[in-house]
Amino acid sequence: MESLLVTGGCGFIGSNFIRFLFHEAGFRGRVVNLDKLTYAGNPENLADVARDFPDRYVFVRADICDRATVAAALARFAVDTICHFAAESHVDRSIVAPDAFIRTNVEGTFVLLEAARERASGLRRFHHVSTDEVYGSLGPEGFFTEESPYRPNSPYAASKAASDHLVRAYHRTYGLPVTVSNCSNNYGPFQFPEKLIPLMILHAAAGKPLPVYGRGLNVRDWLHVEDHCRAIWLILERGRTGEVYNVGGRCERTNLETVERICDLLDEMRPDGRLAPRRRLIRFVTDRPGHDLRYAIDCGKIERELGWAPRESFDSGLRKTIAWYLEHRAWVERVQSGEYRRWMERHYGV
Ligand code: NAD
Ligand code: DAU
Repeated sequence: MESLLVTGGCGFIGSNFIRFLFHEAGFRGRVVNLDKLTYAGNPENLADVARDFPDRYVFVRADICDRATVAAALARFAVDTICHFAAESHVDRSIVAPDAFIRTNVEGTFVLLEAARERASGLRRFHHVSTDEVYGSLGPEGFFTEESPYRPNSPYAASKAASDHLVRAYHRTYGLPVTVSNCSNNYGPFQFPEKLIPLMILHAAAGKPLPVYGRGLNVRDWLHVEDHCRAIWLILERGRTGEVYNVGGRCERTNLETVERICDLLDEMRPDGRLAPRRRLIRFVTDRPGHDLRYAIDCGKIERELGWAPRESFDSGLRKTIAWYLEHRAWVERVQSGEYRRWMERHYGV
């Protein structure tokens, strides 16, 4: 692996993955980060990498739907591996305005696969980063395995499911050397504060209402983003071509449990007599349409085949994440300007 194209590297998981490559993975090659810089993409997430590794880190601002530019980047940088993160990723936005999800997640993945097919002889791996949401919703029992049927329930999940099917088809039909990972909910530094954990941290820190959908009984399986990055790296290095790997945190919590824990940790880490106990800020609001009840991943396959297991406990990971958001006020303020403000006004009326 000498020249790795990362799509969507300025987003939450992509930027953590690129930092992981340079600092943890022992990767010695070049990273080409191709990102359109939508509202969720922020080059500041990788300012340290761009500064410290100018010879081995390249940023290309481009849309994955732009076939000529994607093909030119693959050729110019002699890309031998692709790791595909770029997507529209927020379920609530997909309910309000699905168009961009179909375009980027379905059409964009198709364009990338076509460009990869043209380069087939020079390509050792196309890794597609996907989600457990493609499997739909679980009841109180059971887990998603790699064999679970696809039953996506939101436009986001349906667009990711379509992209997974295209990736599979390009392997079966054209022999493209693909792998796919379907992962549960990530949390950690640099996550855009429209998602549950950073939203609740920032609202609870500021004494703002905490909007919990429905009764807060939906369950998510939380995975620290560094554990996800290590899983992807192992799949790229040693995963079997044509295989799917489920990645999860073995860490199920109801949303209410998660939000209450964030409140308690903030009361401890940022005591404020006027706000404590911050649990008082919780508000039950109108539920998300089609809201999946429970996600839970059986990650036995990647554990057995690649020796991966999550390392971060939810409590320590949550503490570190809260500390990160409290210490990076300038990043938060810049991210919260502009489009973020408009989304908050439209979606929550605040
Ligand atoms: P994100 O929204 O934080 O970042 C997405 C990135 O993709 C941004 O940098 C954005 O600018 C870029 N992008 C969007 N459209 C693009 C386009 N047309 N061309 C080029 N770049 C474009 O997303 P994330 O949370 O980091 O998720 C990354 C991937 O992981 C996604 O494919 C998502 O479906 C998947 N995933 C996320 C989670 C999670 O909990 N966040 C869990 C499982 C899987
Ligand atoms: O499971 C993996 C998926 O996890 C990824 O594929 C998605 O890209 C990622 O966004 C995430 O999807 P969710 O819909 O699970 O994440 P979100 O942070 O939006 O919501 C988590 C849970 O919290 C969900 O049950 C809805 C609830 N929620 C969310 C928000 C933003 C609230 O109760 N209130 C809120 O304000």
